[in-house]
Amino acid sequence: MLSVEKINVFYGQVQILWDVSLMVSEKKIVALVGSNGAGKSTLINGITGIMKIRQGYVRLNNEEIQNLDPHVIVEKGICQIPEERLLFPNMSVLENLELGSYTKRARDNKRQTLDEVYEFFPILSKRRRQNAGSLSGGEQQMLSIARGLMSKPSLLILDEPSFGLAPMLVEEIFKIIKGINESGITILLVEQDIYQSLELADYGYVLENGKMIVEGVGQELLSNKYVKEAYLGI
Ligand SMILES: Nc1ncnc2c1ncn2[C@@H]1O[C@H](COP(=O)(O)OP(=O)(O)O)[C@@H](O)[C@H]1O
Ligand SMILES: [Mg+2]
Repeated sequence: MLSVEKINVFYGQVQILWDVSLMVSEKKIVALVGSNGAGKSTLINGITGIMKIRQGYVRLNNEEIQNLDPHVIVEKGICQIPEERLLFPNMSVLENLELGSYTKRARDNKRQTLDEVYEFFPILSKRRRQNAGSLSGGEQQMLSIARGLMSKPSLLILDEPSFGLAPMLVEEIFKIIKGINESGITILLVEQDIYQSLELADYGYVLENGKMIVEGVGQELLSNKYVKEAYLGI
């Protein structure tokens, strides 16, 4: 479905990604893991058109999409949930959700999509008249994901959804991500928590200092000697 082929990305003169490749097959969950500063966000910002790709290709269903405008890429069905959540705190939960369906592909089925989204996140239905800013951290993360779903993506990219959440909430969010995937949406999950995300994923990639260093099926990666030593401390 998505294939990233040997991309090089720079911040000014500084090269951040070095010949990075990655594939996401339809209906799967793929995890992209690595330490803080490895280049994970830069990679997905390259995919979604936020960062310019200097060399290499990004293909969605065989169509080249590298360096298209972000709004064009959203219309093609790729939605990124940013690490910073970027909610509108003084608007209601419902208004935040409605803003998610501004895309042409989502506009006409807004009501129905909203019902589907509330099924994944019943708490948001309960809180729909409340300001987004009054929600707890976990609820805000849910709202951020829910708003992304309102754009009717076929590929959902989540940038560290577990960031700053208590372990119980992380578990809940991961369960919901699994449910979203089972509803037919392909997932690219970016995480620092290598253990949990590889447990959930069908396939995983490890990015280190801007280079892809290992890849494999989730369970295999967890028993990979290098991954164990470098990331799991065993
Ligand atoms: N706006 C920026 N300008 C210059 N360098 C940046 C900027 N944002 C990130 N970087 C650098 O790019 C590298 C990768 O960052 P990032 O993609 O955010 O990593 P990750 O998401 O894996 O934590 C880091 O070395 C970081 O310092
Ligand atoms: Mg990041």
